[in-house]
Amino acid sequence: MRKTVKDIIAMKKNGERIAMLTAYDAPMASLLHESGADLLLVGDSLGMVVLGYDSTVPVTMNDMLHHSGAVRRGAPEALVVVDMPFGACHVSEAESIANGYRLMKEAGCDAVKIEGGKPICPTINRMVEAGIPVMGHLGLTPQTAGALGGFKVQGRDMEAARELLDDARALQEAGVFGIVLECVPTGLAKVVSEELEIPTIGIGAGDGCDGQVLVTNDMLGLFEKFVPKFVKHYTKLAPQIRAGVEEYVKEVRSGAFPAEEHQFTSKCDYKKLVE
Ligand code: KIV
Repeated sequence: MRKTVKDIIAMKKNGERIAMLTAYDAPMASLLHESGADLLLVGDSLGMVVLGYDSTVPVTMNDMLHHSGAVRRGAPEALVVVDMPFGACHVSEAESIANGYRLMKEAGCDAVKIEGGKPICPTINRMVEAGIPVMGHLGLTPQTAGALGGFKVQGRDMEAARELLDDARALQEAGVFGIVLECVPTGLAKVVSEELEIPTIGIGAGDGCDGQVLVTNDMLGLFEKFVPKFVKHYTKLAPQIRAGVEEYVKEVRSGAFPAEEHQFTSKCDYKKLVE
């Protein structure tokens, strides 16, 4: 049975912590769902960890549709949340709703995630009323990292912390079913989590959140360009991949691969073809 956004809210009420991970393709989505992740997020981190961009800004609706469709096919039973890419919900409420519908109807996702606080709440409210489940995202919001002064911890002083708490309350009021808190001090995330009825999912927001999310390519040690402080490597796949590929290249060059067991045989004498 596929979990619903109501099940995710119930997890907070029951004191169960929520484990969310990002997914961008079918085989990984399948592995993550089989391994017990509660939600799969097709994050626009896609731009940085898969598509080779320096930020999430260039990611398009077509990119998100393409990759979230793959995630859905790989994990038909998973609860899939998809990031609205930069600009997809800022032109008009009508366009935001239309983009949300595309992600649900064409890619088959269950919910969307939108970065931002009070200014985006009227749009979020209209989307929720239109039947699109929405998750919020506060703190470090990578789509507008430039305006925030770079990839920095947010809410460090009391004024910024109060603003973040107000934003979180406004998002809850607008109807979001959960909020990602990215790069905020642990104490602030704890207060926000205790204040809200909906769950908070932290990334670099400490152990007081109701759940955690990591970028899968980070936690599996696949993305090596930089490692944020909050990332834990549960395994290191990049060196294993390099070792496997080096071995393959060596064996192709020496002729050790393919061995007999990797080859097809037939009773035909094919030499006759060229006699
Ligand atoms: O794009 C993403 O992967 C995200 C997570 C960092 C929460 O928004």
